[in-house]
Amino acid sequence: MAGLRVRLGRCLVVGALALAWRLALAGEYHVGGMGLLCSDCHTMHSSRTAQVWQPTPYLLKHSGEVPLCMSCHDGSEPRAPDIVSNGTSAAPDSAVSTPYASKYGSSAGFFQGDYLSAPSRYGHDLVGPVTAPLSTTFTRNTGLACSDCHNPHGTPNYRNLVSDPNPAHPGSFSIVLGTNVTEAIPVDTASPNPAAAYDTGNVGLFASNNFRGWCTDCHDQLAQDLQGASPAHFARHPSDVGIGGSYSHSALGNWLSGTVSEATGFGTEVGDSAAGIPRVRYGSANGSSTVAAAGDTVTCLSCHKAHGSAYRCGLVWPYQTDTPDSLSACQQCHFK
Ligand code: HEC
Ligand code: HEC
Ligand code: HEC
Ligand code: HEC
Ligand code: HEC
Ligand code: HEC
Repeated sequence: MAGLRVRLGRCLVVGALALAWRLALAGEYHVGGMGLLCSDCHTMHSSRTAQVWQPTPYLLKHSGEVPLCMSCHDGSEPRAPDIVSNGTSAAPDSAVSTPYASKYGSSAGFFQGDYLSAPSRYGHDLVGPVTAPLSTTFTRNTGLACSDCHNPHGTPNYRNLVSDPNPAHPGSFSIVLGTNVTEAIPVDTASPNPAAAYDTGNVGLFASNNFRGWCTDCHDQLAQDLQGASPAHFARHPSDVGIGGSYSHSALGNWLSGTVSEATGFGTEVGDSAAGIPRVRYGSANGSSTVAAAGDTVTCLSCHKAHGSAYRCGLVWPYQTDTPDSLSACQQCHFK
């Protein structure tokens, strides 16, 4: 009896520690217990039960980091969110194989199918050399790598984002679930649910989402809003500023109404024949992604997708194109 009680006691302690650790990193795949297997990415001798790989630095299973990550994230592994579209840099497309729950598609967007060979004007480039626009500090000879933005071994941040994407620029920016962003349906590491978990509508941004600081670690010239001469206020489009605040150049009534019409900018789809797109993303006091309210803010992810989109500059709508939707996002907040 005594022996059993001791064993049970130890189990409980270990169990509690494990639980505390899992909660601290809750929701992030490739971290801890169920999500992360060293053997998903590493091979010890470039051979395992007759499967053979070329020997590589860091004992990776593929010729480099991007091909390694894309071996699952290109749509071939249904449990992993597909971040590669069927298009090319010459003919961009938004079709991916993950059946996202809503028409908003994936939160981060996607790279075009020729990501290993061609730079694109539709988002971040994984081939180089690259120099970040609006940056005084960031260049890479070989294109961006996944690990410029994500840590393959995990971090406490949302999506395993690194806190300091540009070590040449000062600052560290945490983006944590519950504090900076929310997920209505959490990532389920035991039973992956990519179509629900990585859907744009599933992710809410707090007003203090910290993406501005994070993105401008590389795009450092946008770190502060450049002031304009009165009666204008800004010399570049601001971020993290409230819609309908005291600057008076935006239209809170239209933003709150969400009325679907050509003039308001609100519609049901991007890229259909009718003017208007679904409400763009915004920061809010409670991280809601559905209920608009006074105090909502404009942020980098209101207008841009982190990986890319089918539109120039990874924008969420076809801005510089002669289509019915070209004015839509601007109209939602400005109603001109
Ligand atoms: C062996 C397959 C596989 C490989 C290789 C792989 N992933 Fe994943 N990854 C997955 C799966 C499966 C999920 C989704 C789990 C879920 O939704 O529950 C995932 C989820 C993710 C997420 C979302 C994490 C979260 O919970 O928010 C990120 C970010 C990610 N992977 C990045 C990477 C990067 C970077 C690499 C390369 C270093 C990589 N992955 C390599 C299978 C893989
Ligand atoms: C999702 C893919 C992925 C998984 C899973 C993964 N690694 Fe890695 N690992 C990488 C990549 C990519 C690198 C290359 C360099 C880098 O970005 O850190 C790397 C580098 C390393 C390195 C050398 C560099 C360093 O940071 O010390 C070690 C050691 C390592 N991994 C150990 C592990 C162990 C142990 C596990 C399991 C607990 C593991 N890895 C799981 C992708 C992965
Ligand atoms: C690790 C550094 C780094 C981070 C972090 C980063 N970027 Fe970039 N960005 C670059 C580089 C390098 C380029 C130029 C090459 C390219 O297009 O990928 C670029 C290009 C861009 C472009 C132009 C794309 C095009 O096709 O013309 C946009 C828009 C952009 N970034 C927005 C963002 C946003 C929004 C964020 C935050 C979600 C962000 N960036 C975070 C490095 C970064
Ligand atoms: C310039 C920075 C940057 C680079 C480079 C980058 N990511 Fe991401 N990624 C992000 C950000 C930021 C998010 C979260 C954005 C959001 O939720 O809107 C994200 C989200 C994801 C997700 C979650 C799925 C989704 O659509 O939200 C996966 C999986 C992922 N990245 C994998 C990768 C892999 C694999 C690579 C390399 C091939 C890569 N990322 C390169 C910034 C980057
Ligand atoms: C109100 C919408 C909006 C917001 C908010 C916004 N952008 Fe942009 N961004 C655009 C548009 C539109 C373009 C395309 C260029 C143009 O039309 O002026 C662009 C272009 C860019 C470029 C490419 C510039 C070039 O020279 O190619 C980068 C980099 C960029 N944005 C980063 C960011 C970052 C980082 C944030 C957050 C601090 C941000 N943007 C916030 C709308 C926005
Ligand atoms: C999510 C909401 C949102 C979107 C989308 C948006 N804006 Fe804004 N915009 C704002 C806010 C908030 C301000 C600053 C506060 C104010 O003036 O009320 C602002 C400021 C401006 C200003 C500067 C006014 C000044 O003070 O000098 C201009 C010009 C502008 N936006 C144009 C645009 C254009 C063009 C687009 C589409 C490419 C756009 N905005 C998209 C919310 C948005």
